[in-house]
Amino acid sequence: MRTSLFYVSLATCALFSEAFSLLKREEGNQGKLSPADRQQDPIMNTPLPGFGGGKQDSSADAGNLIISDVIGKDRVINIFAGFTRDIDTISKRLDDDTQNTTVLAPLNSEIQKLPRKPWEDPKDYRSFGESAYDGSDGEDRAHRNLRRFVESHVIPSSPWKEGEKTKSLGGEELWWENKQGTRTVGPSTWSQYRHIANAAQIQPGNIEVSSIADKVSNGEVWVLKGVVNYA
Ligand SMILES: *[C@@H]1O[C@H](CO)[C@@H](O)[C@H](O)[C@H]1NC(C)=O
Repeated sequence: MRTSLFYVSLATCALFSEAFSLLKREEGNQGKLSPADRQQDPIMNTPLPGFGGGKQDSSADAGNLIISDVIGKDRVINIFAGFTRDIDTISKRLDDDTQNTTVLAPLNSEIQKLPRKPWEDPKDYRSFGESAYDGSDGEDRAHRNLRRFVESHVIPSSPWKEGEKTKSLGGEELWWENKQGTRTVGPSTWSQYRHIANAAQIQPGNIEVSSIADKVSNGEVWVLKGVVNYA
Protein backbone atom coordinates (compact mmCIF):
# COMPACT_ATOMS: atom_id res chain seq x y z
CA MET A 1 0.00 0.00 0.00
CA ARG A 2 2.70 2.37 1.05
CA THR A 3 4.69 1.48 -2.03
CA SER A 4 1.85 1.95 -4.46
CA LEU A 5 0.95 5.35 -2.99
CA PHE A 6 4.58 6.24 -3.30
CA TYR A 7 4.57 5.34 -6.95
CA VAL A 8 1.51 7.45 -7.59
CA SER A 9 3.04 10.48 -5.94
CA LEU A 10 6.40 10.12 -7.58
CA ALA A 11 5.47 8.72 -10.94
CA THR A 12 4.90 12.24 -12.15
CA CYS A 13 8.27 13.46 -10.96
CA ALA A 14 10.42 13.85 -14.02
CA LEU A 15 13.57 13.36 -12.00
CA PHE A 16 12.74 9.74 -11.31
CA SER A 17 10.55 8.98 -14.24
CA GLU A 18 12.93 6.79 -16.12
CA ALA A 19 14.02 4.60 -13.24
CA PHE A 20 10.49 4.35 -11.88
CA SER A 21 8.96 3.37 -15.13
CA LEU A 22 11.58 0.68 -15.49
CA LEU A 23 10.90 -0.66 -12.01
CA LYS A 24 7.15 -0.57 -12.56
CA ARG A 25 7.47 -2.31 -15.87
CA GLU A 26 9.64 -4.98 -14.31
CA GLU A 27 7.20 -5.41 -11.44
CA GLY A 28 4.30 -5.63 -13.84
CA ASN A 29 6.01 -8.57 -15.42
CA GLN A 30 6.34 -10.51 -12.21
CA GLY A 31 4.53 -13.78 -12.31
CA LYS A 32 5.11 -14.37 -15.97
CA LEU A 33 8.52 -15.09 -17.24
CA SER A 34 9.74 -12.27 -19.45
CA PRO A 35 12.50 -12.83 -21.98
CA ALA A 36 14.79 -10.83 -19.67
CA ASP A 37 14.09 -13.19 -16.77
CA ARG A 38 14.70 -16.20 -18.88
CA GLN A 39 18.12 -14.85 -19.70
CA GLN A 40 18.74 -13.86 -16.14
CA ASP A 41 21.90 -15.86 -15.73
CA PRO A 42 24.44 -13.14 -16.49
CA ILE A 43 27.32 -15.56 -16.74
CA MET A 44 25.59 -17.14 -19.69
CA ASN A 45 24.20 -13.86 -20.86
CA THR A 46 27.26 -11.63 -20.77
CA PRO A 47 30.39 -13.71 -20.96
CA LEU A 48 33.68 -11.99 -20.45
CA PRO A 49 35.48 -10.87 -23.57
CA GLY A 50 37.33 -13.76 -25.09
CA PHE A 51 35.17 -16.33 -23.33
CA GLY A 52 33.15 -16.96 -26.42
CA GLY A 53 29.51 -17.42 -27.02
CA GLY A 54 28.23 -13.91 -26.48
CA LYS A 55 29.45 -10.45 -27.20
CA GLN A 56 32.38 -9.98 -29.43
CA ASP A 57 35.57 -8.69 -27.95
CA SER A 58 35.10 -4.99 -28.43
CA SER A 59 38.70 -3.99 -27.86
CA ALA A 60 38.76 -2.33 -31.26
CA ASP A 61 36.07 0.08 -30.05
CA ALA A 62 37.24 0.38 -26.46
CA GLY A 63 39.20 3.54 -27.23
CA ASN A 64 36.07 5.37 -28.29
CA LEU A 65 33.36 4.04 -26.05
CA ILE A 66 32.80 5.29 -22.52
CA ILE A 67 30.61 3.97 -19.72
CA SER A 68 27.68 6.24 -20.49
CA ASP A 69 27.55 4.76 -24.00
CA VAL A 70 27.25 1.18 -22.81
CA ILE A 71 25.70 0.96 -19.35
CA GLY A 72 22.13 1.33 -20.59
CA LYS A 73 22.46 -1.48 -23.10
CA ASP A 74 22.70 -4.37 -20.65
CA ARG A 75 19.16 -5.48 -19.93
CA VAL A 76 20.03 -7.37 -16.75
CA ILE A 77 21.19 -4.15 -15.06
CA ASN A 78 18.93 -1.58 -16.68
CA ILE A 79 17.22 -0.60 -13.44
CA PHE A 80 20.52 0.45 -11.90
CA ALA A 81 21.58 2.12 -15.17
CA GLY A 82 18.41 4.22 -14.92
CA PHE A 83 19.34 5.24 -11.37
CA THR A 84 22.77 6.43 -12.52
CA ARG A 85 21.11 8.71 -15.06
CA ASP A 86 18.93 10.20 -12.33
CA ILE A 87 21.92 11.34 -10.27
CA ASP A 88 23.57 14.30 -12.02
CA THR A 89 27.05 13.97 -10.57
CA ILE A 90 27.16 10.27 -11.42
CA SER A 91 25.83 10.59 -14.95
CA LYS A 92 28.37 13.36 -15.61
CA ARG A 93 31.13 11.20 -14.26
CA LEU A 94 30.20 8.22 -16.44
CA ASP A 95 30.09 10.58 -19.40
CA ASP A 96 33.57 11.99 -18.66
CA ASP A 97 36.42 10.38 -20.55
CA THR A 98 39.04 11.95 -18.25
CA GLN A 99 37.86 10.14 -15.08
CA ASN A 100 37.96 6.39 -14.64
CA THR A 101 35.20 4.60 -12.81
CA THR A 102 34.29 1.05 -11.81
CA VAL A 103 30.50 0.75 -11.66
CA LEU A 104 29.18 -2.06 -9.45
CA ALA A 105 25.77 -2.62 -10.97
CA PRO A 106 23.39 -4.94 -9.11
CA LEU A 107 21.24 -7.22 -11.27
CA ASN A 108 17.65 -6.06 -11.75
CA SER A 109 16.53 -9.13 -9.83
CA GLU A 110 18.66 -8.13 -6.82
CA ILE A 111 17.13 -4.65 -6.71
CA GLN A 112 13.63 -6.06 -7.11
CA LYS A 113 14.00 -8.45 -4.21
CA LEU A 114 15.16 -5.83 -1.69
CA PRO A 115 12.72 -5.56 1.22
CA ARG A 116 12.34 -1.85 0.48
CA LYS A 117 13.08 0.35 -2.50
CA PRO A 118 16.56 1.86 -2.73
CA TRP A 119 15.11 5.34 -2.15
CA GLU A 120 13.27 4.32 1.01
CA ASP A 121 14.86 4.60 4.44
CA PRO A 122 13.20 3.19 7.55
CA LYS A 123 14.38 6.28 9.47
CA ASP A 124 12.27 8.46 7.18
CA TYR A 125 9.17 6.37 7.88
CA ARG A 126 9.87 6.62 11.61
CA SER A 127 10.27 10.40 11.42
CA PHE A 128 7.63 11.29 8.84
CA GLY A 129 5.25 8.35 8.77
CA GLU A 130 3.55 6.86 5.75
CA SER A 131 3.78 10.09 3.79
CA ALA A 132 7.55 10.32 4.17
CA TYR A 133 8.00 10.59 0.41
CA ASP A 134 5.04 12.79 -0.47
CA GLY A 135 5.40 16.34 -1.67
CA SER A 136 8.58 18.10 -2.64
CA ASP A 137 10.29 17.43 0.72
CA GLY A 138 9.50 13.77 0.25
CA GLU A 139 10.90 13.79 -3.24
CA ASP A 140 14.07 15.42 -1.93
CA ARG A 141 14.39 12.70 0.69
CA ALA A 142 13.87 9.97 -1.87
CA HIS A 143 16.41 11.53 -4.18
CA ARG A 144 18.99 11.80 -1.38
CA ASN A 145 18.49 8.16 -0.47
CA LEU A 146 18.76 7.08 -4.09
CA ARG A 147 21.94 9.11 -4.46
CA ARG A 148 23.43 7.35 -1.44
CA PHE A 149 22.49 3.97 -2.89
CA VAL A 150 24.05 4.76 -6.27
CA GLU A 151 27.20 6.31 -4.79
CA SER A 152 27.77 3.16 -2.76
CA HIS A 153 28.05 1.32 -6.08
CA VAL A 154 30.55 3.62 -7.77
CA ILE A 155 34.31 3.18 -7.33
CA PRO A 156 36.12 6.33 -8.49
CA SER A 157 38.95 4.46 -10.21
CA SER A 158 39.66 1.71 -12.73
CA PRO A 159 41.29 -0.73 -13.18
CA TRP A 160 40.51 -1.97 -9.68
CA LYS A 161 42.92 -4.71 -8.67
CA GLU A 162 42.24 -7.68 -6.47
CA GLY A 163 42.75 -6.86 -2.81
CA GLU A 164 43.03 -3.12 -3.41
CA LYS A 165 41.04 -1.33 -0.71
CA THR A 166 39.31 1.69 -2.10
CA LYS A 167 36.44 3.94 -1.08
CA SER A 168 33.26 4.11 -3.07
CA LEU A 169 31.79 7.56 -3.71
CA GLY A 170 29.45 6.68 -0.85
CA GLY A 171 32.47 6.47 1.46
CA GLU A 172 32.51 2.73 2.21
CA GLU A 173 35.86 1.02 1.97
CA LEU A 174 35.55 -1.90 -0.45
CA TRP A 175 37.84 -4.48 -1.97
CA TRP A 176 37.38 -7.67 -3.90
CA GLU A 177 38.91 -11.09 -3.63
CA ASN A 178 38.75 -14.41 -5.30
CA LYS A 179 37.22 -16.92 -2.92
CA GLN A 180 37.64 -20.27 -4.62
CA GLY A 181 40.96 -20.43 -6.33
CA THR A 182 41.66 -19.70 -9.93
CA ARG A 183 40.33 -21.60 -12.86
CA THR A 184 42.28 -20.94 -16.00
CA VAL A 185 40.01 -19.87 -18.79
CA GLY A 186 40.30 -17.21 -21.46
CA PRO A 187 43.31 -15.73 -23.16
CA SER A 188 46.29 -14.75 -21.04
CA THR A 189 45.69 -11.05 -21.68
CA TRP A 190 42.61 -11.41 -19.50
CA SER A 191 44.45 -12.96 -16.57
CA GLN A 192 43.13 -10.30 -14.22
CA TYR A 193 39.60 -11.38 -15.10
CA ARG A 194 39.95 -15.11 -14.79
CA HIS A 195 39.36 -14.59 -11.10
CA ILE A 196 36.23 -12.62 -11.72
CA ALA A 197 34.91 -15.22 -14.12
CA ASN A 198 35.29 -17.73 -11.37
CA ALA A 199 34.37 -16.47 -7.94
CA ALA A 200 35.16 -12.84 -7.26
CA GLN A 201 33.42 -11.33 -4.28
CA ILE A 202 33.16 -7.71 -3.19
CA GLN A 203 34.05 -7.26 0.46
CA PRO A 204 32.81 -6.67 3.03
CA GLY A 205 29.65 -8.67 2.48
CA ASN A 206 30.68 -11.53 0.14
CA ILE A 207 28.85 -9.93 -2.76
CA GLU A 208 29.35 -12.10 -5.79
CA VAL A 209 30.53 -10.55 -9.04
CA SER A 210 28.80 -12.44 -11.82
CA SER A 211 30.50 -10.83 -14.79
CA ILE A 212 32.12 -7.77 -16.23
CA ALA A 213 29.52 -6.42 -18.59
CA ASP A 214 31.67 -3.73 -20.15
CA LYS A 215 35.26 -2.65 -20.32
CA VAL A 216 35.63 0.72 -22.03
CA SER A 217 38.10 3.62 -22.10
CA ASN A 218 36.95 5.29 -18.87
CA GLY A 219 36.33 2.18 -16.82
CA GLU A 220 34.34 -0.97 -16.31
CA VAL A 221 30.83 -2.09 -15.46
CA TRP A 222 30.68 -5.07 -13.14
CA VAL A 223 27.48 -7.00 -12.56
CA LEU A 224 26.74 -7.89 -8.92
CA LYS A 225 24.55 -10.60 -7.44
CA GLY A 226 23.74 -8.39 -4.50
CA VAL A 227 23.84 -4.79 -3.33
CA VAL A 228 26.45 -2.83 -1.37
CA ASN A 229 25.87 -1.18 1.99
CA TYR A 230 22.18 -1.86 2.34
CA ALA A 231 21.33 -2.56 5.96
C1 LIG B 1 41.86 4.47 -17.10
O1 LIG B 1 41.41 3.29 -17.75
C2 LIG B 1 42.14 2.97 -18.89
C3 LIG B 1 41.45 1.79 -19.56
O2 LIG B 1 41.47 0.67 -18.72
C4 LIG B 1 43.60 2.69 -18.53
O3 LIG B 1 44.33 2.40 -19.69
C5 LIG B 1 44.18 3.92 -17.83
O4 LIG B 1 45.47 3.63 -17.37
C6 LIG B 1 43.31 4.31 -16.66
N1 LIG B 1 43.79 5.54 -16.08
C7 LIG B 1 44.02 5.68 -14.79
C8 LIG B 1 44.50 7.02 -14.34
O5 LIG B 1 43.85 4.76 -13.99
